[in-house]
Amino acid sequence: MNQFLECSSCGNRTEFKPETVCHICFGPLNVLYDYDALKRSISRKAIEARPKTMWRYAELLPEVLSGTPDTPVGFTPLVHAKRLGKVLGIPRLYIKNDSVNFPTLSFKDRVVSVALAKAIDFGFNKVGCASTGNLANSVAAQATQLGLESVILIPNDLEQQKVVASACYDTTVIKVLGNYDDVNRLCTELSYREKIAVVNVNLRPFYSEGSKTVGFEIAEQLGWRLPDQVIVPMAGGSLISKIDKAFKELVKVGLVEEKSAHIFGAQPKGCSPISAMVKNRSEEITPVKPDTIVKSLAIGSPADGNRAANIIRNSDGWAEDVTDSEAVAGITLLAETEGIFTEAAGGVTLSVTKKLAEQGKLDKSGVTVICITGNGLKTADLVSYRTDNLSVIEAKYSSYKEITTNKAEADYVNTV
Ligand SMILES: Cc1ncc(COP(=O)(O)O)c(C=O)c1O
Ligand SMILES: [Zn+2]
Repeated sequence: MNQFLECSSCGNRTEFKPETVCHICFGPLNVLYDYDALKRSISRKAIEARPKTMWRYAELLPEVLSGTPDTPVGFTPLVHAKRLGKVLGIPRLYIKNDSVNFPTLSFKDRVVSVALAKAIDFGFNKVGCASTGNLANSVAAQATQLGLESVILIPNDLEQQKVVASACYDTTVIKVLGNYDDVNRLCTELSYREKIAVVNVNLRPFYSEGSKTVGFEIAEQLGWRLPDQVIVPMAGGSLISKIDKAFKELVKVGLVEEKSAHIFGAQPKGCSPISAMVKNRSEEITPVKPDTIVKSLAIGSPADGNRAANIIRNSDGWAEDVTDSEAVAGITLLAETEGIFTEAAGGVTLSVTKKLAEQGKLDKSGVTVICITGNGLKTADLVSYRTDNLSVIEAKYSSYKEITTNKAEADYVNTV
């Protein structure tokens, strides 16, 4: 077996199957590869010659029997954030910009690409998800592209922009009275009772492998080098865990030099069970009831929470959380400095980075990557106050001149 599922608790190995826990001990299943064989066959040159999508790392993703998907998901820009770097005092600061991912403008396009390919391999005609919004958009869009029937379950209080986008595709959207954890419980039951591939439930081991491609791309885009520190938003804790796995796999197969990359996690204060576990140095996650405007990160009982906290600790990183208003300030700071419009989750990640820099927790001379995972158009209401005092003029040069002269004078007065 070149690829297999391994139980993270008892080590039992099995072939690929649509299950998320070990049948012996109920431990979580994880996809592993024959790294020694890959070390002999994989090369930077071969990868670089392939199309610029997340599937260029196919050897380190679950094999798709029907062929590697050719949808252009991933390989999003890694931007040298010079202006933001000046503000934060970190010259070698980079943004991994998944707010422009294909097809639905978030990193979730990556996990869905793997999960739906495997759903087809396993013979499912129907797919679904429990989502905080972005996953819903991506499952609905990509199931439509593949001609799969889909059902999307979401908490009933999500941002309207995300719900509208999901509802436009060829899918069934169902709002559930309750929070994400209630939706997730319902989806778990659904996956036992019906023949459906719920991407983040019974296909979770494959789904989560897609997140590794964020880590692979960061390393390749830095010239096949690992960063010194990376800051990642956390909800279920899967993305951050898989970025760490990606960095370790790249070392194992000889594509990058070994280096200790410090991993930092970001959460909103109103839903911060993972950052609390790190900060309190506790052994286990304590679930919380989410109370935050950052809906995409509102998971009170994170499936990969313990794993995420342990990864942060073992990497000598840290986790922080910020208030809702700090999250909104993070959205505008990124837009004003780098011209990137991110959603609330990105605002959290940015503000946490600022906080960590102020606390002296980041090495300011290190290569630092902020993962921006979603697009601002999906939570535009949070910053609509920016349009409150816009000028309205008649379509005449004199009106334009009047308003801009007055503004210049006001600006001058404000500076003296
Ligand atoms: C924009 C965005 N960023 C980050 C995350 C966190 O991902 P994970 O659940 O893998 O921790 C999510 C999850 O929904 C998200 O929508
Ligand atoms: Zn087991």
